[in-house]
Amino acid sequence: MNPGQMTEFAVDDQIEELQGLKQEFLEEVKNCADLKDVDRVRTKYLSKKGLLQKRFSLLGQVSPDARPLLGKELNSLRSELSHQIQAATDRFQKVRMQHEKIDLTLPGFQQKWGRKHPITKTLDEIKDIFSRMGFTVEEGPEIENDYYNFEALNIPEGHPAREMQDSFYLAGGWVLRTQTSPVQIRVMESQSPPIRMIAPGRCYRKDTPDATHFPVFHQVEGLAVDTDLTFADLKGTISAFAKRLFGPDMRIRFRPSYFPFTEPSAEYDFSCIICKGKGCKACKGSGWLDIAGAGMVDPEVFKDVGYDPEKYTGFAWGMGVERIAMLKYGISDIRYFYENDLRFIEQS
Ligand code: DAH
Repeated sequence: MNPGQMTEFAVDDQIEELQGLKQEFLEEVKNCADLKDVDRVRTKYLSKKGLLQKRFSLLGQVSPDARPLLGKELNSLRSELSHQIQAATDRFQKVRMQHEKIDLTLPGFQQKWGRKHPITKTLDEIKDIFSRMGFTVEEGPEIENDYYNFEALNIPEGHPAREMQDSFYLAGGWVLRTQTSPVQIRVMESQSPPIRMIAPGRCYRKDTPDATHFPVFHQVEGLAVDTDLTFADLKGTISAFAKRLFGPDMRIRFRPSYFPFTEPSAEYDFSCIICKGKGCKACKGSGWLDIAGAGMVDPEVFKDVGYDPEKYTGFAWGMGVERIAMLKYGISDIRYFYENDLRFIEQS
């Protein structure tokens, strides 16, 4: 026997003492006046540092022959005490339920539902319409390198288009993408024609905020490449989309423009549905809202990604999601989207 181990005689003492503990416990449970009391007794005896639990640690000091005996006693006492606690708890709960009056006519608690931000809703709708037209939805990184954001889009260093888009540059030659057009390049590099894709996402420009500008905004890029696509396909696609989103009365107009990666290029406008073309703050009195640019993919871009410009033609476009959401929901200032004022957001 190891020094410090208890003899069997000592174990008998222990068992007797456990009986005493049980009596004290039963007395205390009997005197409980409510659930709180019961819980206090439970903690006192049965919690990790409780009177009974503490005795389990004595097991290690008992001789191996006597250990099963004491162990059995402790376990049976623990289940007896737990049983008593449960019985007392049930008793008090029953009493409480008998006294408590439940008024079933009281109104329930109002659940606060989360909702989608108007930009997310607009993006969902745009994706849905183009998916039904056979376009895939692609993604690209928001932190781009110079090659994809500019170079591959035919915007070399020193090109005035780089100043046109005041960019947020990061260390190491990275830039927060100023447009979703780099996704066109990434997709063409990794897939062969025919291509029909859209790429929704966030873009960044150093714009001073006003009613129609904000340094962060969303675009949806579109690209189709096949053997004989024409400008008519571009117009048809954009116009089918606009009528689907806004209804058959929506009018679309294309104006000649210039983008380094499309030839010919255009900008396109949607008629202002806020004022029905009469002129308001949102359309700056013109009756039209500038949505973004479009055009036929420049053969130089095809060459860079390894497509044969003799064989393939393509059309591409960008669209400003905030502009579309403003039209759709009759919002006259882009800044509302980013202020997170609940009075605004909860209307969506
Ligand atoms: N990326 C252009 C911009 O942000 C918009 C654009 C113009 C996209 C022409 C295109 C395009 O795909 O073909 O201003």
